[in-house]
Amino acid sequence: MSAEIIDGKSIAKEVRSTLKTRAENLIKKGVRPGLAVIIVGDDPASSIYVNNKVKACKEASIHSETHRFPENVEQADVLRCIHELNENPHIHGILVQLPLPRHFESGKVITSIAIEKDVDSFHLYNVGALVTGSAVFLPCTPYGVMIMLEKHGIPIEGQHAVIVGRSNIVGKPMSLMLLEKGATVTICTSKTRDLASYTKSADILVVAVGKPRLITADMVKTGAAVIDVGINRLADGALAGDVDFESVKEKAGYITPVPGGVGPMTITMLLCNTIEAAERTQAGI
Ligand code: GUN
Repeated sequence: MSAEIIDGKSIAKEVRSTLKTRAENLIKKGVRPGLAVIIVGDDPASSIYVNNKVKACKEASIHSETHRFPENVEQADVLRCIHELNENPHIHGILVQLPLPRHFESGKVITSIAIEKDVDSFHLYNVGALVTGSAVFLPCTPYGVMIMLEKHGIPIEGQHAVIVGRSNIVGKPMSLMLLEKGATVTICTSKTRDLASYTKSADILVVAVGKPRLITADMVKTGAAVIDVGINRLADGALAGDVDFESVKEKAGYITPVPGGVGPMTITMLLCNTIEAAERTQAGI
């Protein structure tokens, strides 16, 4: 039997329409949600991400502004910009596009963002809050995955969730969020010995290692929910996830495609966090 496809594009569309309503309700009360994006240098991939974020804000009635700095800017200039944005009442979310140039101390830059405006949830305080089950914001990509599981009624409590990947942006926060919902969590990496022995027992398998088609059908339990966070450019220019979609979809219960799976959810949840931040300001929280 073929798996149920988890269509990220359609879930993102549905969520974005509710976000637009929330943004418009805030605007009626005199608060326009605002997101500031800081980008340093001219990395083409980062520029595309930032442009997509700006476009998505516009469509959701969120004010956005982009602060661009040249590659050779002093860190102090960027910190000054962040301090001003921290104090700016029209800005509810601040995002520093990563990676930063090598002469930057990324940790120092991220921790200069006000905790209540850290919509990426990369600040060490927010990381700690997530670990202790009192998150201020949920990190966007794993948050998007949680929404996808919820929309498809996939149970989490008591289930075995296996995460392949230990990044700060996806693998680690994903593990914590599933753990918080009562899953039994195993974290693997691309180097895990006999990876299949772990993935085969997963009820929920989340893969985020950046290795095209690493996960094949023989590594998946029949009926499992398989979430592919990978997005890899192949030699022929085509995109492939970390999961071999064609074979795994014949065995899994649920599967996300690439593209059109987790990808569209990440920016959606960034918009969600920005609106959440603006709602908190409006409510005086
Ligand atoms: N670079 C790649 N992904 C991300 C992300 O989610 N947030 C930021 N700030 N930078 C990134």
